[in-house]
Amino acid sequence: MTDASLLDPAERMSRAELEALQLERLRATLRHAYDDVELYREKFDAAGVHPDDCRSLADLARFPFTTKDDLRATYPFGMFGVPMKRVRRLHASSGSTGRPTVVGYTQGDLDTWAGLVARCIRAAGGRPGDKVHVAYGYGLFTGGLGAHYGAERAGCTVIPASGGMTARQVRIIQDFRPDIIMVTPTYMLTLLDEFERQGIDPRSTSLRIGIFGAEPWTDPMRREIEERFDLHAVDIYGLSEVMGPGVAQECVETKDGLHLWEDHIYPEVVDPLGEEPVREAGERGELVLTTLTKEALPVIRYRTRDLTRLLPGTARPAFRRIEKITGRSDDMIILRGVNVFPSQIEEVVLTLPALAPHFQLQLTRQGRMDHLCVLVEARPTATRAERDAARAALVREIKEGIGVTVEARVVDPETVERSVGKFRRIRDLRVEESATAG
Ligand code: DLL
Repeated sequence: MTDASLLDPAERMSRAELEALQLERLRATLRHAYDDVELYREKFDAAGVHPDDCRSLADLARFPFTTKDDLRATYPFGMFGVPMKRVRRLHASSGSTGRPTVVGYTQGDLDTWAGLVARCIRAAGGRPGDKVHVAYGYGLFTGGLGAHYGAERAGCTVIPASGGMTARQVRIIQDFRPDIIMVTPTYMLTLLDEFERQGIDPRSTSLRIGIFGAEPWTDPMRREIEERFDLHAVDIYGLSEVMGPGVAQECVETKDGLHLWEDHIYPEVVDPLGEEPVREAGERGELVLTTLTKEALPVIRYRTRDLTRLLPGTARPAFRRIEKITGRSDDMIILRGVNVFPSQIEEVVLTLPALAPHFQLQLTRQGRMDHLCVLVEARPTATRAERDAARAALVREIKEGIGVTVEARVVDPETVERSVGKFRRIRDLRVEESATAG
């Protein structure tokens, strides 16, 4: 059980108290968006809704969605709801295509953000006095600075390592003896290799807790990291448009999905292909988020493209949870009509002992058909016969479990590209082929 003295007042609220606070904040946010951001005023007017129409939380569904395209169309600052002189910080998300999206924070927004990341760290089991090694990238990406100020707010000692320079990361971990690491799960695997390369047992480090996010990862990956590092691995979720890391966090005592901090962010789940909410509570769909306290960039019904479902609270009873995110709707591969997510392949790869957790998916076109090749590394200890058997088993289990035929190639250790932050799991060579052809 969590010591109640470590909880924020909001974490001790009843569901009814929380919902009353949410409605009050939602009404103020809708008013702020309508009064201070032209794009929202136009969209609300076009939809025939006004902030005064929001009398219950359910009324939010009458308001229009916001998308990444809205942020792009108003690049860079067109959706800010405060004068620039009140904006204390900017971040940007690069995105894979098109213009980046730029986000801004007032001093109040930065305080809220640090407070929520501190709450995440406590939920992960962090305590004042712990040393936190931050290996998320510092810069326009929200990961590094978001984790940094949250860890300071939690009363921890921050080691601002940022991403990259892997050999040096290992030395810092050995010498400074952090209790907690905050990093992408795939970069944690890169660190794991480096520990082994230097002849250091990864289980011998001072690390007690890993707070992993910024990309999808599965429960088998959690077990892999927990066993090989001897630590607790918990999930942190967030996105720049809504705040950065710290929107939702898994509690270490339950590891059963991520509690979404609903006093500041309101979640809905809708049909990823349409506009309707999912039919039943607990059904999977696309996560849609509304900020309840953001000043610089209020976000109304933002389509995250992240796929999950809403579940009731457990370790923090008033807050609903999101299930571990299986993927993004735009990372979905459609092979002969069957939808495949990289996380489904990850689950299969990690059940086969001869295979390492390093893999990439290569998408090509053969004739008129899309073709998927799983390029996966063998574990250094695997024999030739074990590699061959694992390759056959991978193809078979993907066919039986997911329903698609793929090619698998088991390659030598240390030949698949390594992550230095957010890992590009899919290489879409169809795009690269047509780009070079054109
Ligand atoms: O990745 C913020 C962040 C930094 C979260 C550090 C956690 C830790 P963006 O660069 O805007 O922000 O990317 C946001 O990353 O919409 C998801 O698709 C994905 N994502 C983030 N956290 C998770 C997670 C940061 N725990 C996008 N599981 C989101 C799965 C995640 N996907």
